Amino acid sequence: MRVFKGEVTTLPPDKSISHRAALIGALSEGTTEITNFSGGFDNQSTLSVLQHAGIAIHQEEIAGPHGRPFRRVVIDSQGLWSFRPPEVALMCNNSGSTMRMFAGILAAQPFRSELIGDSSLMKRPMKRVADPLRLMGADIELSEAGTAPVRINGMRDLKPITYTLPVPSAQVKSLVAFAALHADGESRIIESVLSRDHTEVMLGLESVEEAGQRIIVVPGRKQISAKPFYIPADPSAACFIVALGLLARGSELMIRDVCLNPTRAAFLDILIAAGAGLRIENERIIGGERIGDILVKSSSDIDPLFISDPQVIAIAIDEIPMLAVLSAFATGHFELHNAKELRTKESDRIDALVVNLERLGFSCEQYPDGFVVKGRTRVPSETVELESFDDHRIAMSFAIAGRATESDFDITDIEVVGVSFPNFFELLDSLEV
Ligand code: S3P
Repeated sequence: MRVFKGEVTTLPPDKSISHRAALIGALSEGTTEITNFSGGFDNQSTLSVLQHAGIAIHQEEIAGPHGRPFRRVVIDSQGLWSFRPPEVALMCNNSGSTMRMFAGILAAQPFRSELIGDSSLMKRPMKRVADPLRLMGADIELSEAGTAPVRINGMRDLKPITYTLPVPSAQVKSLVAFAALHADGESRIIESVLSRDHTEVMLGLESVEEAGQRIIVVPGRKQISAKPFYIPADPSAACFIVALGLLARGSELMIRDVCLNPTRAAFLDILIAAGAGLRIENERIIGGERIGDILVKSSSDIDPLFISDPQVIAIAIDEIPMLAVLSAFATGHFELHNAKELRTKESDRIDALVVNLERLGFSCEQYPDGFVVKGRTRVPSETVELESFDDHRIAMSFAIAGRATESDFDITDIEVVGVSFPNFFELLDSLEV
């Protein structure tokens, strides 16, 4: 039996906040200092595309408290129109956030640019990017399938927009906000299902609640003054360690300094409601974000998870793979509805979960917007090969289940974990007693 104990102080810095800190730094006038920037491949892709578009960025690793190294990133910019025509197509690798959010900025720059990605990103939907930008007057070209390459013939004079988000997507909300900052007048972005709100918090945008909707107001052509950012630990990474602690009998883990923004921490509420042994401690606000520590004690008797509320799904979307695998292993059951967005992530996550769970002997049924796990009918006697589908969250969800309950599973292309959690295996090894 494997047992995990200890204090976790080396979770990766939050991926969503790291992307935004870099992009907002590039849009700000002056020097932006970012403390604890993520070394994950996705966030490094954002720094790389910014540099290729003429932004001066300095990155260094320095020793932090208790000798723990962290990354400091310094960005120098003259504000909204500091970008320069890139000489190459901008390679976003696996990072949908980089491609989508940077498209909003490039649409407002007076030059041509092109965004490309790896084979997974080149298949993901980009019409949701082009639609609002075209309404603002931008000239955007996509493949016939509505995917990358995203070719942008940028222009300085974007029109302001009032835009109701057709899908709850913080990436789309953010790209519209970034484009709108350059527009000639005030814009409004309306969401009826809330998505993560880091962009609004970090830009200090005003929002009003009206008839069950949230309206975010973006001022046009307002220079932003550079300010420092601190990046807390990533709750989406914490979710894997939480699941490890819950599943592995006799374990107890304290996870420090995690971002607990309510639009990111829904997975904790879901688990607490199911009877998981979790406690939040030491809550505080830093840089407008709620931060705290999570105490996890192994819990063998949680209830099966049933997730169907669209609002909950929007704010727990990245944690659903781990929640599904955790619920399957802890209870034999899991049920998900209203989550067709999961099919548009780094992989088709509904299919990826079902394929792997079935190989592990779980009986599953998938439908367009979800799937159900109906019990485990057999435990394979030989090691089965699981597929990562080149998706970091699929790879880590099954790696955690293997580590916590049985022997490590054999998972294809496991190095994909580096997209968001480069020290994943090193951390698991260090916690095993
Ligand atoms: C993100 C938003 C979500 C999430 C992604 C990161 C962000 O995507 O799945 O991992 O940082 O804004 P969508 O905007 O497509 O929902």
